[in-house]
Amino acid sequence: MADLVIIGGGHAAGQACASLRAGGWSGAIIVVGEEPYPPYQRPPLSKAYLRGELPAERLLFRPESFYTDHDVTLRLGERALRIDRAARRVETDRGSLPYDALLLATGARPRPLTCAGADLGGVFGLRSIADVDAIKQRFDSAQHLVIIGAGYIGLEVAAVAKRRGLNVTVLEAQDRVMSRVTSPLVSDFFTRVHREEGVDLRLDAQAEAIEGEGAVEAVRLADGTRVPADLVVYGIGVLPNQGIAAEAGLATDNGILVDENACTEDPAVYAVGDCTNHPNPLLDRRLRLESVHNALEQAKTAAAALCGSPKPYAQIPWFWSDQYELKLQTVGLQDGYDATVVRGAPEARSFAVFYLAKDSLIAVDAVNEPAAFMAAKKLVGRRVERHLLEDPETSLRDLALAAQRG
Ligand code: APR
Repeated sequence: MADLVIIGGGHAAGQACASLRAGGWSGAIIVVGEEPYPPYQRPPLSKAYLRGELPAERLLFRPESFYTDHDVTLRLGERALRIDRAARRVETDRGSLPYDALLLATGARPRPLTCAGADLGGVFGLRSIADVDAIKQRFDSAQHLVIIGAGYIGLEVAAVAKRRGLNVTVLEAQDRVMSRVTSPLVSDFFTRVHREEGVDLRLDAQAEAIEGEGAVEAVRLADGTRVPADLVVYGIGVLPNQGIAAEAGLATDNGILVDENACTEDPAVYAVGDCTNHPNPLLDRRLRLESVHNALEQAKTAAAALCGSPKPYAQIPWFWSDQYELKLQTVGLQDGYDATVVRGAPEARSFAVFYLAKDSLIAVDAVNEPAAFMAAKKLVGRRVERHLLEDPETSLRDLALAAQRG
C-alpha cells in the first residue's frame, strides 16, 4: 500500500481526498494544512461570508466526519517546510512525514501590498476565513473603507461594504476594472454600476503610501491626493505558492510545471490547483488558473493518475463573481478576441458578451444571464455562425445543439 501526503488543505486538497478514495487509493492519505480548518470553499469569503449570511461550517468542502469516515488524516495548523525528494520525506514544523506519492496543493497567496505604511493596523488582504473575520469585525466600526485593486476581490468587497452603509473608495491602478479577466465593454459596465451605487471608483489611481499613527488614517495617492480611511482592503492579485517545490528542485515558471496528468517531472510528485502551470489541450497552451473549477478538475485528474486510470485534463475554464444583485459568469478566456457580439441589454443589467476569434467562440461573459452561460459552456471552443449569434431570434440553446451536432 502506497502512502500519500498532500501539502495544502484547500479546495483542491479536499477534492483530491474524495477522488482518491473513490478511485480506490488504499494507502494512507495525510493532509498537511497550515490553516486551522478542514478544506473549505473560498469564493463565498468575499461574498455571503463577508455579508455575515453564512456560518464558517457552511464553507466546508465536506464535513469533518468525511475525513474520518474515509480514513484521511488532517494535520491542521501544520506547515510543510521542505521536501526531501531523494528520501521521499516532507519536513514540517511538527516533524517529518514519509511518502510514496506527494501531492502539492499549495494554492496562491495575495500579492502583498508593498507601499509605505502597508503594515499599519487596519490594512488587510483577503484570502482566508481569518482575513474575513478580521475585516468583518472592523465593518462594525469603520466608516471610510479604501479598497486597493478593482479585481474580483476589490469589487466584491466594495459591493458588500456599500450595502452596509460604509463610505467606499476603490483605487485601481489600471484605466479600467477587472482588466485581467474581462473586456473594456464589461469593465465599463461594472464601473458604471459601482458609481451608481455610490462607490467612489478611481481609475489610474496608484496608492503611494498608507498614512497613520499605529492605525490607518488615510491613503495617499501618487498625485498627492489624500483619501481618509479607517479600513483598507487590498486585492491586487495573487502569487502561486511554488517556493517549496522550487527549493526541492522541481521546475516552476509562474506555477509548478505539471503535465496533462498533473504530474511534475518527478513521477512521485503531483501538483494541482492555483499553484500549477499546466497544459490545456483545448486552449492549446500552458497556463496558470485561479479558479475553483480548475482546482476540482485537476484534483480529479491527479487522483485518476495516482489510482492507475489516467484521465488527462481537458477543461474549458469558467469563473464567476457576485456584485450587488449581479452575477457575472465567464466561460473561456477572452484575450485574443477579434470581434464581439452582445445579446441582451446592459441598461437592463442583463446581457451576455460573446468573444470570437476567427469565427470561433473563445469566451462569453454573462451578466444575470444564467441560460446564456449554460449554452456558452457548450459553445465555447466551437465555430459559430456570427450572423446567427447576432440574430436575437436564434436561440442560444439551438445554437449549442447545432454546434454539438456539427
Ligand atoms: N494599486 C491599485 N490597483 C492595483 C495595484 C496597485 N498597486 N496592483 C494591482 N492592482 C489591480 C490590478 O490592475 C487588478 O485590476 O488590482 C486588480 C487585481 O485583480 P485580480 O488580479 O483579479 O486579483 P484579485 O481581485 O486580488 O483576486 C485574486 O481571488 O477572487 C479570487 O481567484 C480569484 O484570482 C482571483 C483572486
